[in-house]
Amino acid sequence: MTVTTRNRELLVLGIETSCDETAAGVVRRDAHGRGTILSNVVRDQVAAHAEFGGVVPEIAARAHAEITDTVVAAALTEAGVSLADLDGIAATAGPGLIGGVMVGLVTAKMLALAAGKPLVAVNHLEGHALTVGLSEGVRPPYLLLLVSGGHTQLLAVEDIGRYRRIGGTIDDALGEAFDKTAKMLGLGYPGGPAVERLAVSGTADRFALPRPLKGRPGADFSFAGLKTAVRQIAETLQPIDEATARDLCAAFQAAAIETVMDRVANGMEIYTRSRGEGRHLQLVVAGGVAANRAMASALAALAARFGFSIAVPPARLCTDNGVMIAWAGAERLARGWVDGLEVPARARWPLDEAQFVSGVAT
Ligand code: KG4
Ligand code: ZN
Repeated sequence: MTVTTRNRELLVLGIETSCDETAAGVVRRDAHGRGTILSNVVRDQVAAHAEFGGVVPEIAARAHAEITDTVVAAALTEAGVSLADLDGIAATAGPGLIGGVMVGLVTAKMLALAAGKPLVAVNHLEGHALTVGLSEGVRPPYLLLLVSGGHTQLLAVEDIGRYRRIGGTIDDALGEAFDKTAKMLGLGYPGGPAVERLAVSGTADRFALPRPLKGRPGADFSFAGLKTAVRQIAETLQPIDEATARDLCAAFQAAAIETVMDRVANGMEIYTRSRGEGRHLQLVVAGGVAANRAMASALAALAARFGFSIAVPPARLCTDNGVMIAWAGAERLARGWVDGLEVPARARWPLDEAQFVSGVAT
């Protein structure tokens, strides 16, 4: 299906079900490319996964199947719009836990079919990557640090739909390392916010932890060695008292941040060389871990040192939500990029891979 939507106002519903949040949101994109959030409904599944200390894919898929329709209905009601008012329906088509992705994508397909609206299949990472356009009005090109529970990547966002990978994790994602540290200390799930809370009053230098890949060339990340080191200490010190938990969280967070700064500094150099001298350089931070205040302030200082401006969406738009999918969908729809009902749900879908436009890989 091709649609001509350039230069007109667009109203788009977005559905997100790729991990453990069932979310839907409605955004308006005006003819100048500015966005407004009309609704943002997020139902997390923390209670369902809490006893397992992490997301259980089968439980997640069932929970999405149970509530996606009511979440979508709530998003439409909150926005004060009906299906007939929409210009397009966007859903995460991957990457993520396949059962959940299928629930959201199939829901979007049925709504698109029933209402006769264009379907936009959105890459979840593109949702995170473009949120800053909606919340801060920041447009590409920029260097993106995407740090979430499932992903840790540095990408050059050249334009909407054009992404170039600069670095990525060779093992665990940063959010995963936070979550596993929390799990080892019995802090519950999701662990990032709990680790950050305890770290504030801990003493970071009580434990010597590794800074994986620090000082090495390139902009890849690694957190497995750090996680193992935390586990070894946690096992030796059982049972862990409150003060030890605080110190271990502080040590972990300091090591993680120092590693990230080293890798991002290299990434900024690589990006600056590729952009050429004298250009305006922007760093955008996205994904759930962008909500970490200690990391955000370290990144702000680093960006200033390298001559980059920095933009971070508000925390509620950094963690998974339907608004970011609606917005990426609106950006694609504005370019006439829509998808057929045959578009597949994908567990794996690198953002820098060929993009699917109107069902055709470009
Ligand atoms: O983007 P997101 O909601 O989901 C994924 O796509 O993965 O990110 C969730 C991740 C979790 O690993 C969570 O522990 C982490 O973001 N996170 C944090 C903080 N808030 C959320 N990590 C560190 N500090 C935080 N304040
Ligand atoms: Zn995410």
